[in-house]
Parts: sequence; structure tokens; C-alpha cells
Amino acid sequence: MKGVILAGGTGARLKPFTRILNKHLLPVGPYPMVYWPIIRLRDAGIKDILIITNKNHLSPFIELLGQGEELNVKLDYKIQKKEGGGIADALMSAKSFIGQEKFVVLLGDNVFEDSITPYIKEFQKQDKGARVLLKEVEDPTRYGVPQLDTTNKKITSIIEKPSNPPSSYCVTGIYMYDQEVFQYIETILPSNRNELEITDVNNLYIKNNQLEYDILQGFWIDAGTHESLYKAIQFMNEKPIKEEKQ
Ligand code: G1P
Repeated sequence: MKGVILAGGTGARLKPFTRILNKHLLPVGPYPMVYWPIIRLRDAGIKDILIITNKNHLSPFIELLGQGEELNVKLDYKIQKKEGGGIADALMSAKSFIGQEKFVVLLGDNVFEDSITPYIKEFQKQDKGARVLLKEVEDPTRYGVPQLDTTNKKITSIIEKPSNPPSSYCVTGIYMYDQEVFQYIETILPSNRNELEITDVNNLYIKNNQLEYDILQGFWIDAGTHESLYKAIQFMNEKPIKEEKQ
């Protein structure tokens, strides 16, 4: 299985750092933020990884990570065509890299504790469709929020940044897809914030009864704001995640 890390975006909520730096290069514990999703994928046995970023940010990534030698992975890079075009728009740049395989997508600013190996194993049992990981959060209004049918372990819909959240969970930036995802992205339209929303893509999987979920257990944070970046740094400093011995 291959992995895709989305490391573009404008980093608007992390100014002034992001005027000169891509947010995924900011320090989280002993490493730049982007190291963590690479380590998470590698520890789950996924070493063929595509990093998607903005045109202006590509060269520091290459300078920092090269082809992945230091972290014992194989890295490729692609540019997101429309900067600020949204997660689904960025993901479209992975189409040729993925081909016909199932794959894992990590948002580069999601910092988390759990190994993703057990969730990927579950996804491997699915012959098609997608799988998302949910996490209980204090303020769901900031995220994509699932409406759950817990009896049948199904998500019945996902609402992006709802004012009246249908549950206390958020859909984390850890997604598993089959190659159908690219067809779904082609059918969606920009949202009110003028982005192609990954939530709209996930809702299409729900419509076709092909979206499964698990609940993420350990620490998780979307380190996209000053406050949450601080929490991510604190967590990684106090409880650094051990890298698997290669
Ligand atoms: C994005 C997704 C949202 C998801 C979140 C997780 O939000 O749109 O559904 O819950 O990532 O980090 P954004 O960071 O674009 O506000």
C-alpha cells in the first residue's frame, strides 16, 4: 500500500511563521512536523510515500527530506495545482502516483499517538470503499463531524464545521481510500469557503454504503493553530513517540 501526505495549504491560522515557512516544517518536539506522518506511515509498513505541497514550498521539503534516505522511506513529491483549493483538490495530484491501489492519506498537520497499523489491517479486509478514523473532541464545530449509527457501526452523514454538531466526534485527517476517490472528487463542487471538501467526498462513499470507521484511541490534534501547535509540541516533548527500529 502507498501513502500520501498533504502538506500544502496556506497556514493562515499560523501567521506570522507561515509567511516565510510552510507550516509542516515548524518544530513539533524534536522534528519538523512533517516527520511525524512519515514515521507513522513507515511504522505501518508504508514506505512508498507521496508528499503534496505548494509550488513555492517544494524546495525546502526536498532539501530537508531528499528522497527519504534518512527516514528509510521512498519519497516522491507533487505540487498542488490550486493553492488553497482544499484537501480533495490537493489529493487529485496523487492520481498517477496511486494508480489502481488502495492507499492511506494523512493530513500533515494531524499529530497523533496511535499506530495506524491496526486500522490499515481492517481497511485491507474491505474489498472496496473507504475508511476514516474518528476522535472525540471538545469543540467539534471546528471539524468535519459524523452523525453516527452506533448500533450498525455506520456513519450516516458528515457535516463540515457544523454549528450544531450531530456528535462529539470529528473525522480526523487520517483517511483510507480505494481508487474510486478520484472519480468522486471529479464530481464535487467548491464549498462556501471555496474549497473542494474531503467531507463531500466521504459523503459520496456514505451514499454508496462504502464508508467504514474506527475510533482513534490515543492523543490526536490538528496542529493548525497556535494553541493546538503548542499542545502538539508539549505532547511530543513530554511523551515522545518511539520510532520503530528498522
Ligand atoms: C480538515 C477537514 C475536516 C477534518 C480536519 C481534521 O479541516 O476539512 O473535515 O475534520 O481537517 O484535521 P481544515 O483543517 O481544512 O479546517
